[in-house]
Amino acid sequence: MGGEPVNLLLYLHPVWQTASLLLMVVALSLGLRLGRERAHPWEREARLRLQRLHLKVAITFLGLISTGYALGIATMAFVRDEPVFRTAHAYFGTIVLGLFWLGAYYGGRLLRGQNLKPKDYSNHAFCVILGAIIALAVAVMGYTLLP
Ligand code: HEM
Ligand code: HEM
Repeated sequence: MGGEPVNLLLYLHPVWQTASLLLMVVALSLGLRLGRERAHPWEREARLRLQRLHLKVAITFLGLISTGYALGIATMAFVRDEPVFRTAHAYFGTIVLGLFWLGAYYGGRLLRGQNLKPKDYSNHAFCVILGAIIALAVAVMGYTLLP
């Protein structure tokens, strides 16, 4: 029965982050729908409902991807006993996390803001859409690290 026993802990981060990227797609599609509908004013109640759903999914996603990030570093350091932040996956993963938190900051301003200008919306959209694109590349880079 040769072969090293595979440490299942090493799969926790990849599975976790795959789930968080699925939620990212849902948050993105809800946000894009809100953006599209903004051009054609529609029922206020329905819009608020969609906005609340966008918020719920987005906040859950942000919590998942942030804990998943910490998990990646923790498993790298304590399960694999390898030096951390030596991979492109980690560098670009850090950029992704920064973009999403900056996007959340702009999203919070959208929630609170009065007299919002198109730029206020595009700041939020720019950060999260760029974050989403790079996140997919980070996922591809992650496969090379799998045990
Ligand atoms: C906690 C973090 C977030 C907050 C507070 C937030 C809040 C908002 C708000 C208030 C809007 C404007 C809705 C409207 O037009 O009525 C919006 C739009 C949008 N959100 Fe978020 N959001 C967050 C995270 C995200 C995430 C993680 C994504 C994508 C993965 C995302 C994607 C979008 C997109 C694409 C739009 C449309 C922007 C536009 O109109 O150009 N948001 N968000
Ligand atoms: C969804 C696909 C992903 C896969 C398959 C994946 C895979 C991996 C693997 C195999 C490791 C090595 C540690 C371990 O085995 O647990 C790792 C580490 C790591 N991952 Fe991911 N990952 C993914 C997504 C992400 C995302 C979206 C981020 C950032 C937001 C991220 C950030 C990190 C970080 C910071 C490390 C530590 C690496 C180091 O210190 O060099 N990962 N990832």
